[in-house]
Amino acid sequence: MPSFPFQIAARDGAARTGTLTTRRGDIRTPAFMPVGTAATVKAMMPESVAETGADILLGNTYHLMLRPGAERIDRLGGLHRFMNWDRPILTDSGGFQVMSLASLRKLTEDGVTFASHIDGSRHHLTPERSMEIQRLLGSDIVMAFDECPALPATDDQVAASMRLSMRWAQRSRDAFGDRSGHALFGIMQGGINRELREESAEALRSIGFDGYAIGGLAVGEGQAAMFDVLDYAPGLLPDDQPRYLMGVGKPDDIVGAVQRGVDMMDCVLPSRSGRTGQAWTARGQVNIKNARHADDPRPLDESCTCPACSRYSRAYLHHVFRAGEMISGMLLTWHNLHYYQQLMAGLRGAIAGARLDDFVAVFHAEREKGDI
Ligand code: GUN
Ligand code: ZN
Repeated sequence: MPSFPFQIAARDGAARTGTLTTRRGDIRTPAFMPVGTAATVKAMMPESVAETGADILLGNTYHLMLRPGAERIDRLGGLHRFMNWDRPILTDSGGFQVMSLASLRKLTEDGVTFASHIDGSRHHLTPERSMEIQRLLGSDIVMAFDECPALPATDDQVAASMRLSMRWAQRSRDAFGDRSGHALFGIMQGGINRELREESAEALRSIGFDGYAIGGLAVGEGQAAMFDVLDYAPGLLPDDQPRYLMGVGKPDDIVGAVQRGVDMMDCVLPSRSGRTGQAWTARGQVNIKNARHADDPRPLDESCTCPACSRYSRAYLHHVFRAGEMISGMLLTWHNLHYYQQLMAGLRGAIAGARLDDFVAVFHAEREKGDI
């Protein structure tokens, strides 16, 4: 009996739409999860994040264990109460962030020792400690502790790393135990090597998880290589359980992943690029700092109903960005998260109506036109 029932309502090709039911609310799939690394989606109030249509947020073991600390968040009533978000939260397990952010990293069979990117303090993270931290946070969907090799890597390095991650997946499963109302997802590794992906999927399936993530992609291999893996990787995982593609992506990555059978995704892109003046629209990317917007009274995106587009001009968005005003990051982040959630809603509707190919054709045709 899975912790969270996953109902697939409709399919179109390899794509699926459905609902993952949790005690904190339903997650409509395909789902995009905004990233709330440090117990906040930067520049957004949680109620505003909910208004964009997000059903679930992503939080990070790595950042929260360093600051403010998992035991402190537990004493304060858990992450949901701490950050005032009562819908589901998925937490990443920490190993991936250690490899990209920490220094003085030392990887052993037991786990990883590293120095904090905040104050240089030394820490040790293992599958068991990661499960404990994610329990203290009160995470609804806990990720197994894994490792993702830095590119470029040889097949032997990718194989050794994947096998270590699979041993850690078993230790994660054992340490997680049986926690009703909380799900544990395994993470497939294996780079862009099909045999290694097959071996990893088989290892995870024999351990048994509530859902399965595809890790180790969007790490510099490029979209074509990522799509090559996604042409077969989702099919290696149980058909009736959720599949989560980690750290993806740009809107066209998301569309391609959904077409190939992915149910959940997360990415910092809409929130991070909002703070650097980049907006995502149906017509592609708009750089609001560009001088051509300085006298433009039109909204950023005529077809968008978000606060940035319904209440402000391109000229205003340009001005507050150039002036370094905080509302700039707030408005563009809101717009980008709204755009991403509208895209997900469009994909769900298209799959439900068995018209995904048409939807994708229009998506690409609009982008071809470019920003006006
Ligand atoms: N985020 C993006 N890719 C990965 C991955 O391979 N593993 C984990 N844990 N998180 C990720
Ligand atoms: Zn908008």
